[in-house]
Amino acid sequence: MTKAKTLLVTNALPYSNGPIHLGHMLEHIQSDIFVRFNRAIGNTVYYVCGDDCHGTPVMIKAGQLGITPEQMIEITSKDHDEDLKGFLVSYDNYYKTHSPENEEISSYMYNKAKENGYIVTNKISQLFDPEKNMFLPDRFVKGTCPKCGAKDQYGDNCEVCGATYDPTELKDAYSTVSGAKPVLKESVHYFFDLPKANDFLHDYIRNSGVIQTEMANKLEEWFTQGLKPWDISRDSPYFGFKIPGTEDKYFYVWMDAPIGYFASLKNLCAKNNICYEDFVKQDSDIEMVHFIGKDILYFHSLFWPATLKAAEMRLPSHIYVHGYVTVNGAKMSKSKGTFIKAKTFLKYFKPETLRYYFASKMNSSCVDVDLSLDDFMAKVNSDIVGKVVNLASRTAGFITKRFDGRLSDAPFNQEIIDRIAAVKDDVIRGYESRNYADAIRTIMGLADEANRYIDAMAPWVIAKLEGEDDKLQRVCSDGINLFRALITYLKPVLPEVAANAEEFLNSKLDFSTVANPLVSHTINKFKPLFSRIEKAQIDAMIETSKEDLKEANAQAPKKEAKNEAKSSEDRIEPLAPEITIDDFAKVDLRVGTIIEAEEVAEARKLLKLKVDIGFETRQVFAGIKQAYPDAKSLIGRQVVLVANLKPRQMKFGLSEGMVTAAGPGATEVFLLGVDSGAVNGDRIH
Ligand code: MSP
Ligand code: ZN
Repeated sequence: MTKAKTLLVTNALPYSNGPIHLGHMLEHIQSDIFVRFNRAIGNTVYYVCGDDCHGTPVMIKAGQLGITPEQMIEITSKDHDEDLKGFLVSYDNYYKTHSPENEEISSYMYNKAKENGYIVTNKISQLFDPEKNMFLPDRFVKGTCPKCGAKDQYGDNCEVCGATYDPTELKDAYSTVSGAKPVLKESVHYFFDLPKANDFLHDYIRNSGVIQTEMANKLEEWFTQGLKPWDISRDSPYFGFKIPGTEDKYFYVWMDAPIGYFASLKNLCAKNNICYEDFVKQDSDIEMVHFIGKDILYFHSLFWPATLKAAEMRLPSHIYVHGYVTVNGAKMSKSKGTFIKAKTFLKYFKPETLRYYFASKMNSSCVDVDLSLDDFMAKVNSDIVGKVVNLASRTAGFITKRFDGRLSDAPFNQEIIDRIAAVKDDVIRGYESRNYADAIRTIMGLADEANRYIDAMAPWVIAKLEGEDDKLQRVCSDGINLFRALITYLKPVLPEVAANAEEFLNSKLDFSTVANPLVSHTINKFKPLFSRIEKAQIDAMIETSKEDLKEANAQAPKKEAKNEAKSSEDRIEPLAPEITIDDFAKVDLRVGTIIEAEEVAEARKLLKLKVDIGFETRQVFAGIKQAYPDAKSLIGRQVVLVANLKPRQMKFGLSEGMVTAAGPGATEVFLLGVDSGAVNGDRIH
């Protein structure tokens, strides 16, 4: 084995303005398994996280609830910490970005960057709410689309026609905070000179091995387009830290968010008398590993290393990017009850069910991970209960009743015991490379061998034979030792089961001793370690998630109701005026297959699609990016296209048709499909 290392491991900091949900949990579980595994093989790990407290959404939400942002972050921080502990995530410190440590380090890094010539100022014009006396981020301005006239569109992009524009181009614009008409106002902003770091960043991303190749390739697009100075300041009122040397300028939330990793670390170091400098100095030999989702790639792999470099501090050693959680094959949806909060899940299931399921599906790539609820139930029941726990429950009784809890002095079948050591390297390799699915597959392979062995030996038959006590004790001891090995290998994933198994086995479970079976050792009475999942629990969880939504809607102020997913009652649109069959015949709807799908990087809501409609291929810009963030997943899908819609020239190219979809918009958009058998080009009558 290689020399023991010291690591600093972080997980992205959840925002303070919402609850932890199963999407977040994928990442916390991924990083926690990594941490527990590293500890198990003898590495020293400091594992930190915390809440990301700053920014306009937090400020506004607190305002709506009639509390201060400080009060709100206190409440959510406790809530988040509780949820994460509930899922057995083993943080050494769960802290927050709104902390003295973070303010101090942020100021320090900013001053260093300034000294090194990375900070520039520039005057910009921005919409301003004269009633609330605040500058308005694009999301907080709405109005009539300048292109198609649709009402109530966001400040950057029209959900109806897909046009993108500057918020100043909106007609009848209003502030969603106060309803007031915004005015244009000039302000000096502070920028981080990202282009100055271009060559350094390009080399770092390409050549240091810090990030998965597929992500490095994705980042190449940004380098090709050219990096732009990054606006790191926001005007008052803003919930954040004041920029040193200014009166009323605040750090943009994403400036101090990753610094929050260091703040959490520093807070931990102070409590435990550890040297913080050792972690952050430029030549630190401690590995710094970040786990993040693909949506925040840009911030972690460009802005963060650039700020570290500018402040003459150490760089990340690894940035591990993961994909998104989908539930039953689709984006988590509030109205379908698949937007599941951590708390709701824990009300119905043991945390280790989800830890196991995610582990069994996770690899080192950025592909999305689907939580298919039927498969979840089947896997947990068949693997954990059926294969692992069952091994102990079928053999422990004999050891307790017939041998006073004493295991035999030698195995009955050395060959099967040797299999424990034989798979060890594969298991380690799986965890080490974050291909947890491989590790689990290897472990379950061993479980299958173990169960076949016990089935073949049938201790329940031996138990009835005269004079076969020695054989019975040895076979059952083999079963117990195999069980012990399985749980040891699964310990990073199932820490609580492992703790209970340690009590039952009366022995510590450790990677280093996994291959030495317990002999002449007394175990305790076996207690059931895990129970089966029932379908009714899943149904109840979905129902509760739907209830959660109704509650949230009832609490949410009316003005903001549009941002939330809608329940079926208030989702109904008024019926359009009656038409004749001839009117309908004017609309030429055709079956087509999406053959290309990509994001329009500059537009928050647009995907660019190529749709094959049999006799030709159409390019279509569709405002469905929020509902289908993984554009590639659409390739191959049959859709219904409005084929005789007048083509429209958009900023990004010509749109030659419209794909049909249902739903109120934003993340709640559901593409129409056809039953199998339809051929591209078929007309819909
Ligand atoms: N506050 C920022 C992160 C700052 S890190 C210095 C943020 N917060 S978040 O709450 O929106 O997301 C936290 C993490 O959870 C991100 O890595 C994000 O990718 C991940 N996930 C949020 N929803 C997710 C899914 N549905 N699926 C998988 N991960 C997702 O971004
Ligand atoms: Zn429009």
